[in-house]
Amino acid sequence: MLNLCVVGAQWGDEGKGKIVDLLTPAFDVAVRYQGGHNAGHTVQIGSSKFVLHLLPSAVLHEGKTCVIGNGVVVDPRALLREIDELRALGITVGSNLHVSASAHVIMPYHSEWEAGSEESRGDRRIGTTCRGIGPCYEDKIGRRGIRVGDLLDPDVFRRLLAENVAEKSRILPALYGREARTIEQYAEEIEACIERIAPYVANVTVLLAKKLREGAAILFEGAQGALLDIDHGTYPFVTSSNSVAGGAATGAGVPPHAVHRVLGVTKAYCTRVGQGPFPTAMGGEMEEAIRERGCEYGASTGRPRRCGWLDLPALRYAAMLNGFHSLALMKLDILSSLDEIKVCTAYKYRDSVLTDFPAETWKLEECEPLYETWKGWNKPIAGCTRFDDLPLEARVFVTRLEDSLLLPCGIISTGSDRDATIVRKGKGLDEWHLPMAAISR
Ligand code: IMO
Ligand code: MG
Repeated sequence: MLNLCVVGAQWGDEGKGKIVDLLTPAFDVAVRYQGGHNAGHTVQIGSSKFVLHLLPSAVLHEGKTCVIGNGVVVDPRALLREIDELRALGITVGSNLHVSASAHVIMPYHSEWEAGSEESRGDRRIGTTCRGIGPCYEDKIGRRGIRVGDLLDPDVFRRLLAENVAEKSRILPALYGREARTIEQYAEEIEACIERIAPYVANVTVLLAKKLREGAAILFEGAQGALLDIDHGTYPFVTSSNSVAGGAATGAGVPPHAVHRVLGVTKAYCTRVGQGPFPTAMGGEMEEAIRERGCEYGASTGRPRRCGWLDLPALRYAAMLNGFHSLALMKLDILSSLDEIKVCTAYKYRDSVLTDFPAETWKLEECEPLYETWKGWNKPIAGCTRFDDLPLEARVFVTRLEDSLLLPCGIISTGSDRDATIVRKGKGLDEWHLPMAAISR
C-alpha cells in the first residue's frame, strides 16, 4: 500500500484536520510526527465540531491505529485532557493509541520559560501559542530533555527532573525575573499523569516497521505548515519543528522511502496567526470580511488570524520543499461573493522582481506583492460536491492555480462539513480509491 503525508502549504490552519478526516478510511495507521498541542485541527461532523491538538485526527475513526511519533513534544496533561474530552463525546481512545517512548515531554517549566522569553523579546516576539513547544525542543536539542519513556522509571524521571529544575531555577530568575517552582511541585503535576499514560508508551519505530512489513497504509499527519518550519520557514517567526514532509521520516522513525506521496493543503487565500512577515495581508474591510466569513480565529488560542490573498511564490516554495503530488484547495467557498480575486504572482523587492520566495526573512519583510486579478464567480458554491457544478470562473480559478504550480488539485473544499468536498479523479489521489461515497460516513 502507498503511504501519504499530509502537509500544510502555508502558515498553518489550512484545513489539514478536515483532509485527514476525509482520507482516514483509506489508511490503517495515522501518525503525528512533529509539533505538539500548538496544533488545532478542526473536524466538523454533522453538527458536532471536534478540535484535535495532539492526537492524530484519525482518532475520530473507529479501529485506526493512532501514533504519536518521536518528533512530537508531548504535554502529558494536555494528552490526558484530550483523551478525556474525546471519551466524553463517546470516542474510544484505548489500545489503538501509541505514544513514542522517544518523544520529548513538555514540562510545566517550559511554558513558564516561554512566557518569559516572549515577554523579553518585546516587539520582536514570535507570538507563540505559549504551550512550551519551543523550550521543550530547546531542551531536546540541548540534550537535557525528558522523554516519554523516562516517565516509566521513577528514579530516572526524578534524576532528570532534578537536573533540569536545578538549571531552570537559575535561568528563570536571571533572564526573566521569574521564580521556578520546586522539584516537588513539578514532579507532582507530571507524576499524577504517569499511571494513565504508561499503557500507551511504545517503541514506535518497531511498531511502524512491523506495520510497513505487513503492508499497512500509513497516513503521516503534519501539523503547522511549510512556512512555519524551523529550517525552511520565515525564521525566527516559525515553530520549533520540521513541519515539512521531510520531517515525517525523522519524526516517525521510518525510512524516507516509506513516505510515498505528499498532499499539500492550502487555502484559496492565506492566513497567519502570530508574528512575522505576511506579504499579501489584505488589511481593511476585506480582511475583516474574510475573517468573519472564514471564521479565521485560532483553533488553539482563539486569536484572530491575519488574512491575505493567495501567495503563489510562497506556494511554489512549499511545493518545491515538500514535493507535493497533489493539492487540496480549502475554503474556496469563502471567496464566493467577490467579483475579483487578487493572487500574488511575484514580489517587488527594492528594484527587482522576485518570483522565488526569499530565503532571508528580512528580505521578505521588505517585499511588496505583485498581484494579478482573477475574475470572481460571485455565486454561492458552499456544499458543492462536483467540479463540473462549480461556476465557470471558479473552475478557471482552480485551473489557473494548477497551471501556475504545475500541480494537480485533487481535492476542493466547499465548506467545513465532511460532505462539502469535491474529490477529483486523475489528480494524484486515485491510488487510494476515494470516491465520495466511501469517504462520507
Ligand atoms: P495547525 O496545526 C497556525 C504558530 C504560532 C506562532 C508560531 C510559533 O493548527 O496548523 P509555537 O507555539 O509553535 O512555538 O508558535 O507558530 N503556530 C501555528 N499557527 N496553526 C498552527 O497549527 C500553529 N502552530 C503554531 O502562532 O506564530
Ligand atoms: Mg491552528
